[in-house]
Amino acid sequence: MAEIVVVESKQAAGELVATEIRRLIESKADTVLGLATGSTPLPVYAALAASFRANPLDVSRVRGFALDEYVGLPAEHPESYRTVITRDVIGPLGLTPNQIQVPNGDVATLEHAGAKYERAIEAAGGIDLQILGIGRTGHLGFNEPGSSFASCTRVKTLAPKSRADNARFFALPEDVPRHCITQGLGTIRRARHLVLLAFGVEKATAIAAAVEGPVTASQPGSAIQLHAHVTVVLDEEAAAQLAGLDYYRYIWANKPAWQGI
Ligand code: GLP
Repeated sequence: MAEIVVVESKQAAGELVATEIRRLIESKADTVLGLATGSTPLPVYAALAASFRANPLDVSRVRGFALDEYVGLPAEHPESYRTVITRDVIGPLGLTPNQIQVPNGDVATLEHAGAKYERAIEAAGGIDLQILGIGRTGHLGFNEPGSSFASCTRVKTLAPKSRADNARFFALPEDVPRHCITQGLGTIRRARHLVLLAFGVEKATAIAAAVEGPVTASQPGSAIQLHAHVTVVLDEEAAAQLAGLDYYRYIWANKPAWQGI
């Protein structure tokens, strides 16, 4: 099953995952990262940027693929995920925009955008490490409940709960797009290492369902149980509903230091 790591703060989570990403780039200069947006991965990007400032690393061959994008927002819209990735990842990590791809949510080319994105990921050699958050609906990327575990990058309709959760980023709740283009659960499962982060009490139910619940399309997060290498990094609040928490703590406390995550 997934390795569960409970940390004391978001900052500690960020440092743990950033250390692993740095180790990966040091061993594979053309590392391919899968990049989540939302608030959850921000401590990872901040810790990675701090690590690069303190100890510069050649990242010129690193590539990245964002998980998802809204449909119909212009790329330059302040809340498009292209803008968010540029602000939170490309700038702070010292990358160039052409190193990172984001699914294209332009309505005019939407029909073929998913297949094109899948081909680009494949051409890059696949994703080495996929950073994930989880929605209160249990979504990974924007794979809302009911998403096939075999799904590829495609257009989805956002659940009302997800639109409400993301309304804080928009002037009016009705400004949140109804559709998105997201890597599928099949796409995510092809990444070689999944790192799922979650913070706060509002994520506890979705995390318990993902880690310990039945494997079901009704809980997209449970797709992680079908993957051989998953690390779930949680704060105490997000971990609170895990039945096996004491056991997970024991496993982590006794893990050989050389193993990494
Ligand atoms: C977002 C994204 C997901 C993210 C999730 C949780 O809207 N599409 O990739 O993991 O919903 O968001 P947050 O990290 O802000 O809680």
